[in-house]
Amino acid sequence: MTQHIGVLTSGGDCPGLNAAIRGLGKAAREQYGMSVKGFLNGFRGLAQDQAVDLDSAMLSGILTDGGTILGTSRDKPHRMIIGGKETDMTDAIIATYHRHHLDALVCIGGGGTQKNALRLAEAGLNVVTLPKTIDNDIWLTDRTFGFDTALQIATEAIDRLHSTATSHERIIIVEVMGHRAGWLALESGIAGGADVILLPEIPYEVSKIAEAIRRRTHSGKRFSIVVVAEGAMSYDDAGEVEALVKARDQAETKKSRSEAKDELRKFHDEHVGHTIRLTRNLEKLTGQETRLTILGHLQRGGTPSAADRVFATWLGTECAEVLHQRTYGVMLALQGNQLQLVPLNEAAGTIRQVPLDHPLITSGRRVGTTFGD
Ligand code: F6P
Repeated sequence: MTQHIGVLTSGGDCPGLNAAIRGLGKAAREQYGMSVKGFLNGFRGLAQDQAVDLDSAMLSGILTDGGTILGTSRDKPHRMIIGGKETDMTDAIIATYHRHHLDALVCIGGGGTQKNALRLAEAGLNVVTLPKTIDNDIWLTDRTFGFDTALQIATEAIDRLHSTATSHERIIIVEVMGHRAGWLALESGIAGGADVILLPEIPYEVSKIAEAIRRRTHSGKRFSIVVVAEGAMSYDDAGEVEALVKARDQAETKKSRSEAKDELRKFHDEHVGHTIRLTRNLEKLTGQETRLTILGHLQRGGTPSAADRVFATWLGTECAEVLHQRTYGVMLALQGNQLQLVPLNEAAGTIRQVPLDHPLITSGRRVGTTFGD
Protein backbone atom coordinates (compact mmCIF):
# COMPACT_ATOMS: atom_id res chain seq x y z
CA MET A 1 0.00 0.00 0.00
CA THR A 2 1.40 3.41 -0.98
CA GLN A 3 1.99 5.64 2.02
CA HIS A 4 0.70 9.20 1.58
CA ILE A 5 2.57 11.91 3.42
CA GLY A 6 2.09 15.65 3.72
CA VAL A 7 4.77 18.22 4.52
CA LEU A 8 4.68 21.87 5.52
CA THR A 9 7.12 24.53 6.69
CA SER A 10 5.99 26.87 9.46
CA GLY A 11 7.37 29.80 11.48
CA GLY A 12 10.17 32.09 10.28
CA ASP A 13 11.93 30.98 7.10
CA CYS A 14 15.57 29.94 7.33
CA PRO A 15 18.32 28.59 5.10
CA GLY A 16 18.11 24.80 4.66
CA LEU A 17 14.32 24.42 4.48
CA ASN A 18 14.44 23.47 0.81
CA ALA A 19 17.30 21.05 1.44
CA ALA A 20 15.13 19.33 4.08
CA ILE A 21 12.06 19.23 1.80
CA ARG A 22 14.23 17.82 -1.01
CA GLY A 23 15.88 15.19 1.23
CA LEU A 24 12.53 14.07 2.60
CA GLY A 25 10.72 14.17 -0.74
CA LYS A 26 13.36 12.35 -2.75
CA ALA A 27 13.93 9.61 -0.17
CA ALA A 28 10.19 9.17 0.46
CA ARG A 29 9.36 8.92 -3.24
CA GLU A 30 12.38 7.15 -4.63
CA GLN A 31 13.36 4.82 -1.78
CA TYR A 32 9.98 4.01 -0.31
CA GLY A 33 7.49 4.70 -3.14
CA MET A 34 5.47 7.17 -1.04
CA SER A 35 3.32 9.94 -2.48
CA VAL A 36 4.31 13.36 -1.14
CA LYS A 37 2.06 16.44 -0.90
CA GLY A 38 3.29 19.86 0.14
CA PHE A 39 0.95 22.27 1.98
CA LEU A 40 1.50 25.98 1.38
CA ASN A 41 2.17 28.73 3.90
CA GLY A 42 2.42 26.64 7.04
CA PHE A 43 -0.68 25.45 8.89
CA ARG A 44 -2.82 27.88 6.86
CA GLY A 45 -2.38 25.77 3.73
CA LEU A 46 -3.48 22.72 5.65
CA ALA A 47 -6.50 24.53 7.08
CA GLN A 48 -7.49 25.91 3.68
CA ASP A 49 -6.42 22.87 1.66
CA GLN A 50 -3.76 24.51 -0.48
CA ALA A 51 -1.74 21.52 -1.62
CA VAL A 52 0.87 20.83 -4.31
CA ASP A 53 2.30 17.53 -5.50
CA LEU A 54 5.95 17.36 -4.56
CA ASP A 55 6.99 15.52 -7.70
CA SER A 56 10.53 15.12 -8.98
CA ALA A 57 10.39 18.40 -10.92
CA MET A 58 9.40 20.32 -7.76
CA LEU A 59 12.16 18.64 -5.76
CA SER A 60 14.91 19.38 -8.29
CA GLY A 61 17.26 22.35 -8.24
CA ILE A 62 16.23 23.59 -4.79
CA LEU A 63 19.08 22.33 -2.58
CA THR A 64 20.97 25.61 -2.61
CA ASP A 65 17.96 27.96 -2.52
CA GLY A 66 17.18 30.00 0.60
CA GLY A 67 13.62 30.36 1.93
CA THR A 68 11.05 27.63 1.33
CA ILE A 69 9.35 26.55 -1.90
CA LEU A 70 6.23 25.84 0.19
CA GLY A 71 6.00 29.30 1.75
CA THR A 72 5.57 29.72 5.47
CA SER A 73 3.56 31.62 8.07
CA ARG A 74 3.26 31.96 11.82
CA ASP A 75 -0.39 30.81 11.78
CA LYS A 76 -1.47 28.54 14.62
CA PRO A 77 -4.04 25.78 13.96
CA HIS A 78 -6.17 26.71 16.98
CA ARG A 79 -5.96 30.50 16.62
CA MET A 80 -5.91 31.42 12.93
CA ILE A 81 -7.15 34.76 11.65
CA ILE A 82 -9.86 33.93 9.12
CA GLY A 83 -11.91 36.81 7.69
CA GLY A 84 -10.49 39.10 10.39
CA LYS A 85 -11.57 36.74 13.21
CA GLU A 86 -9.51 34.41 15.36
CA THR A 87 -10.76 30.91 14.53
CA ASP A 88 -9.95 27.39 15.69
CA MET A 89 -9.09 25.60 12.44
CA THR A 90 -8.17 22.23 13.98
CA ASP A 91 -11.23 20.45 12.53
CA ALA A 92 -10.59 21.93 9.07
CA ILE A 93 -7.00 20.68 9.27
CA ILE A 94 -8.13 17.19 10.26
CA ALA A 95 -10.58 17.21 7.35
CA THR A 96 -7.82 18.18 4.87
CA TYR A 97 -5.56 15.45 6.28
CA HIS A 98 -8.25 12.81 5.67
CA ARG A 99 -9.33 14.27 2.31
CA HIS A 100 -5.79 13.62 1.04
CA HIS A 101 -5.73 10.16 2.70
CA LEU A 102 -2.57 11.14 4.54
CA ASP A 103 -0.82 8.54 6.66
CA ALA A 104 1.38 11.20 8.27
CA LEU A 105 2.21 14.87 8.33
CA VAL A 106 5.75 16.27 8.57
CA CYS A 107 6.01 19.73 10.15
CA ILE A 108 9.31 21.52 9.65
CA GLY A 109 9.72 24.43 12.02
CA GLY A 110 10.96 26.07 15.19
CA GLY A 111 9.68 26.15 18.77
CA GLY A 112 6.18 27.39 17.90
CA THR A 113 5.81 24.75 15.20
CA GLN A 114 6.73 21.98 17.63
CA LYS A 115 3.90 23.15 19.92
CA ASN A 116 1.40 23.39 17.06
CA ALA A 117 2.43 19.98 15.70
CA LEU A 118 1.93 18.51 19.18
CA ARG A 119 -1.59 19.98 19.26
CA LEU A 120 -2.36 18.16 15.99
CA ALA A 121 -0.81 14.93 17.29
CA GLU A 122 -3.04 15.24 20.37
CA ALA A 123 -6.00 15.74 18.02
CA GLY A 124 -5.22 12.34 16.52
CA LEU A 125 -2.97 13.03 13.49
CA ASN A 126 0.26 11.12 12.83
CA VAL A 127 2.91 13.81 13.06
CA VAL A 128 6.70 13.88 12.75
CA THR A 129 8.70 17.12 13.09
CA LEU A 130 12.09 18.43 11.99
CA PRO A 131 13.82 21.21 13.97
CA LYS A 132 14.81 24.39 12.13
CA THR A 133 15.56 27.92 13.31
CA ILE A 134 18.46 30.31 13.18
CA ASP A 135 18.01 30.67 16.97
CA ASN A 136 19.23 27.10 17.67
CA ASP A 137 16.91 27.06 20.66
CA ILE A 138 14.79 23.91 20.30
CA TRP A 139 14.75 21.70 23.35
CA LEU A 140 16.38 18.26 23.16
CA THR A 141 18.35 18.88 19.97
CA ASP A 142 21.95 20.11 19.97
CA ARG A 143 21.46 21.79 16.58
CA THR A 144 18.75 23.19 14.38
CA PHE A 145 19.37 23.86 10.71
CA GLY A 146 19.57 27.50 9.65
CA PHE A 147 21.81 28.34 12.60
CA ASP A 148 25.10 27.65 10.87
CA THR A 149 24.26 29.91 7.91
CA ALA A 150 23.05 32.73 10.18
CA LEU A 151 26.21 32.36 12.24
CA GLN A 152 28.34 32.80 9.12
CA ILE A 153 26.35 35.85 8.00
CA ALA A 154 26.55 37.50 11.43
CA THR A 155 30.25 36.72 11.76
CA GLU A 156 31.02 38.17 8.35
CA ALA A 157 29.05 41.30 9.24
CA ILE A 158 31.04 41.72 12.47
CA ASP A 159 34.31 41.22 10.54
CA ARG A 160 33.30 43.94 8.08
CA LEU A 161 32.19 46.32 10.82
CA HIS A 162 35.68 46.13 12.33
CA SER A 163 36.89 48.34 9.46
CA THR A 164 34.73 51.29 10.46
CA ALA A 165 35.27 50.62 14.16
CA THR A 166 39.07 50.85 13.81
CA SER A 167 39.20 53.60 11.15
CA HIS A 168 36.88 55.93 13.09
CA GLU A 169 37.83 54.74 16.59
CA ARG A 170 34.19 54.02 17.31
CA ILE A 171 32.09 51.69 19.38
CA ILE A 172 30.07 49.57 16.97
CA ILE A 173 27.00 47.79 18.30
CA VAL A 174 25.71 44.85 16.21
CA GLU A 175 22.24 43.53 16.98
CA VAL A 176 21.70 39.91 15.99
CA MET A 177 18.49 37.85 16.22
CA GLY A 178 17.54 35.78 19.25
CA HIS A 179 14.65 36.85 21.47
CA ARG A 180 14.85 34.27 24.23
CA ALA A 181 18.14 32.47 23.51
CA GLY A 182 21.55 33.96 22.80
CA TRP A 183 23.29 31.21 20.81
CA LEU A 184 23.72 33.35 17.72
CA ALA A 185 25.06 36.33 19.68
CA LEU A 186 27.36 34.12 21.71
CA GLU A 187 28.89 32.22 18.80
CA SER A 188 29.05 35.10 16.31
CA GLY A 189 30.46 37.30 19.07
CA ILE A 190 33.21 34.83 19.84
CA ALA A 191 33.89 34.13 16.15
CA GLY A 192 34.00 37.88 15.41
CA GLY A 193 36.17 38.71 18.42
CA ALA A 194 33.55 40.93 20.06
CA ASP A 195 34.68 42.86 23.11
CA VAL A 196 31.20 42.77 24.63
CA ILE A 197 28.51 40.10 24.13
CA LEU A 198 25.02 40.62 25.53
CA LEU A 199 22.65 37.66 25.78
CA PRO A 200 19.01 37.33 26.87
CA GLU A 201 20.22 34.89 29.51
CA ILE A 202 22.55 37.41 31.25
CA PRO A 203 21.03 40.76 32.27
CA TYR A 204 23.47 43.63 31.71
CA GLU A 205 24.42 46.87 33.43
CA VAL A 206 25.26 49.67 30.96
CA SER A 207 27.74 51.18 33.41
CA LYS A 208 29.70 47.90 33.47
CA ILE A 209 29.89 47.83 29.68
CA ALA A 210 31.08 51.46 29.65
CA GLU A 211 33.67 50.61 32.28
CA ALA A 212 35.01 47.70 30.20
CA ILE A 213 35.22 49.97 27.15
CA ARG A 214 37.06 52.65 29.12
CA ARG A 215 39.55 50.00 30.27
CA ARG A 216 40.17 49.09 26.63
CA THR A 217 40.71 52.75 25.80
CA HIS A 218 43.24 53.12 28.61
CA SER A 219 45.13 50.11 27.31
CA GLY A 220 45.37 51.82 23.91
CA LYS A 221 42.46 50.12 22.09
CA ARG A 222 40.40 52.90 20.60
CA PHE A 223 37.53 50.85 19.19
CA SER A 224 35.10 48.28 20.56
CA ILE A 225 32.65 45.80 19.08
CA VAL A 226 29.48 45.02 21.04
CA VAL A 227 27.33 42.08 19.87
CA VAL A 228 23.80 42.17 21.30
CA ALA A 229 21.02 39.61 21.00
CA GLU A 230 17.70 41.30 20.23
CA GLY A 231 16.29 39.86 23.47
CA ALA A 232 19.15 40.96 25.74
CA MET A 233 18.00 43.09 28.68
CA SER A 234 19.36 45.43 31.30
CA TYR A 235 18.96 44.38 34.95
CA ASP A 236 16.10 46.89 35.32
CA ASP A 237 14.23 45.56 32.29
CA ALA A 238 14.81 41.96 33.31
CA GLY A 239 13.37 42.80 36.76
CA GLU A 240 10.33 44.40 35.14
CA VAL A 241 9.71 41.35 32.95
CA GLU A 242 10.03 39.06 35.95
CA ALA A 243 7.39 41.08 37.80
CA LEU A 244 5.07 41.09 34.77
CA VAL A 245 5.44 37.33 34.29
CA LYS A 246 4.71 36.80 37.99
CA ALA A 247 1.60 39.00 37.76
CA ARG A 248 0.41 36.98 34.75
CA ASP A 249 1.03 33.63 36.39
CA GLN A 250 -0.59 34.64 39.66
CA ALA A 251 -3.60 36.37 38.10
CA GLU A 252 -6.76 35.01 39.68
CA THR A 253 -9.35 36.05 37.14
CA LYS A 254 -9.48 35.70 33.37
CA LYS A 255 -9.69 39.49 33.09
CA SER A 256 -6.63 40.20 35.24
CA ARG A 257 -4.66 37.48 33.42
CA SER A 258 -5.54 39.00 30.06
CA GLU A 259 -4.55 42.47 31.33
CA ALA A 260 -1.23 41.12 32.64
CA LYS A 261 -0.60 39.43 29.28
CA ASP A 262 -1.29 42.72 27.47
CA GLU A 263 1.18 44.51 29.76
CA LEU A 264 3.83 41.90 29.00
CA ARG A 265 3.19 42.16 25.26
CA LYS A 266 3.44 45.96 25.47
CA PHE A 267 6.74 45.68 27.31
CA HIS A 268 8.18 43.37 24.64
CA ASP A 269 6.90 45.62 21.81
CA GLU A 270 8.63 48.60 23.37
CA HIS A 271 11.78 46.63 24.11
CA VAL A 272 12.40 46.34 20.35
CA GLY A 273 14.20 49.69 20.42
CA HIS A 274 16.50 48.78 23.30
CA THR A 275 19.69 48.69 21.22
CA ILE A 276 19.04 52.28 20.10
CA ARG A 277 18.84 53.31 23.76
CA LEU A 278 21.96 51.28 24.53
CA THR A 279 23.82 53.05 21.71
CA ARG A 280 22.91 56.50 23.08
CA ASN A 281 23.74 55.53 26.66
CA LEU A 282 27.14 54.08 25.77
CA GLU A 283 28.04 57.15 23.73
CA LYS A 284 27.07 59.35 26.68
CA LEU A 285 28.93 57.28 29.27
CA THR A 286 32.14 56.77 27.29
CA GLY A 287 32.24 60.00 25.27
CA GLN A 288 33.12 57.86 22.26
CA GLU A 289 31.25 57.91 18.94
CA THR A 290 28.91 54.93 18.85
CA ARG A 291 26.99 53.44 15.93
CA LEU A 292 24.38 50.68 15.69
CA THR A 293 23.85 48.06 12.97
CA ILE A 294 20.77 45.84 13.18
CA LEU A 295 21.30 42.77 11.00
CA GLY A 296 17.63 41.69 11.09
CA HIS A 297 16.34 39.35 8.40
CA LEU A 298 19.62 39.45 6.48
CA GLN A 299 20.59 36.65 8.88
CA ARG A 300 17.83 34.37 7.57
CA GLY A 301 18.36 35.03 3.88
CA GLY A 302 20.22 33.51 0.99
CA THR A 303 21.88 30.25 0.21
CA PRO A 304 22.39 27.77 3.07
CA SER A 305 25.90 26.94 4.26
CA ALA A 306 27.35 23.53 3.41
CA ALA A 307 26.80 22.40 7.03
CA ASP A 308 23.12 23.39 6.94
CA ARG A 309 22.59 21.66 3.58
CA VAL A 310 24.17 18.48 4.89
CA PHE A 311 22.27 18.52 8.20
CA ALA A 312 18.91 19.37 6.62
CA THR A 313 19.36 16.65 3.97
CA TRP A 314 20.25 14.13 6.67
CA LEU A 315 17.16 15.08 8.73
CA GLY A 316 14.92 14.89 5.64
CA THR A 317 16.15 11.50 4.43
CA GLU A 318 16.09 10.01 7.95
CA CYS A 319 12.56 11.33 8.36
CA ALA A 320 11.49 9.26 5.32
CA GLU A 321 12.83 6.14 7.07
CA VAL A 322 10.96 7.08 10.28
CA LEU A 323 7.74 7.47 8.28
CA HIS A 324 8.41 4.14 6.58
CA GLN A 325 8.69 2.56 10.05
CA ARG A 326 5.38 4.28 10.89
CA THR A 327 6.85 5.90 13.98
CA TYR A 328 4.88 9.02 14.84
CA GLY A 329 4.62 11.69 17.53
CA VAL A 330 8.37 12.33 17.44
CA MET A 331 10.89 15.03 16.55
CA LEU A 332 14.19 14.12 14.92
CA ALA A 333 16.98 15.56 17.06
CA LEU A 334 20.74 15.76 16.85
CA GLN A 335 22.28 14.51 20.09
CA GLY A 336 26.05 14.24 19.99
CA ASN A 337 26.66 13.12 16.42
CA GLN A 338 23.61 10.87 16.16
CA LEU A 339 20.06 11.54 15.07
CA GLN A 340 17.61 10.45 17.75
CA LEU A 341 13.84 10.32 17.94
CA VAL A 342 12.51 12.34 20.86
CA PRO A 343 8.85 12.36 21.95
CA LEU A 344 7.19 15.49 20.58
CA ASN A 345 5.51 16.17 23.92
CA GLU A 346 8.96 16.39 25.54
CA ALA A 347 10.54 18.56 22.84
CA ALA A 348 7.67 21.07 22.54
CA GLY A 349 7.12 23.93 24.95
CA THR A 350 10.63 24.48 26.34
CA ILE A 351 13.20 26.92 24.99
CA ARG A 352 16.81 25.76 24.94
CA GLN A 353 18.63 28.76 26.38
CA VAL A 354 22.36 29.15 26.82
CA PRO A 355 23.21 27.70 30.26
CA LEU A 356 25.06 30.24 32.40
CA ASP A 357 27.90 27.78 32.94
CA HIS A 358 28.23 27.01 29.22
CA PRO A 359 31.88 26.45 28.22
CA LEU A 360 31.62 29.09 25.49
CA ILE A 361 30.71 31.77 28.05
CA THR A 362 33.75 30.73 30.07
CA SER A 363 35.85 30.73 26.91
CA GLY A 364 34.63 34.23 26.01
CA ARG A 365 35.47 35.55 29.47
CA ARG A 366 38.94 33.99 29.21
CA VAL A 367 39.71 36.00 26.09
CA GLY A 368 38.58 39.17 27.87
CA THR A 369 35.03 39.48 26.56
CA THR A 370 32.59 41.27 28.85
CA PHE A 371 29.04 39.92 29.20
CA GLY A 372 27.73 43.07 30.83
CA ASP A 373 27.19 41.45 34.24
O1 F6P B 1 12.48 32.47 15.10
C1 F6P B 1 13.44 32.96 14.25
C2 F6P B 1 13.49 34.45 14.27
O2 F6P B 1 14.33 34.86 13.22
C3 F6P B 1 13.94 35.07 15.59
O3 F6P B 1 15.33 35.11 15.76
C4 F6P B 1 13.36 36.46 15.48
O4 F6P B 1 13.20 37.00 16.75
C5 F6P B 1 12.05 36.20 14.80
O5 F6P B 1 12.21 35.02 14.05
C6 F6P B 1 11.60 37.30 13.88
O6 F6P B 1 10.35 36.96 13.39
P1 F6P B 1 9.64 37.62 12.15
O7 F6P B 1 10.39 37.23 10.91
O8 F6P B 1 8.28 37.04 12.17
O9 F6P B 1 9.70 39.08 12.37
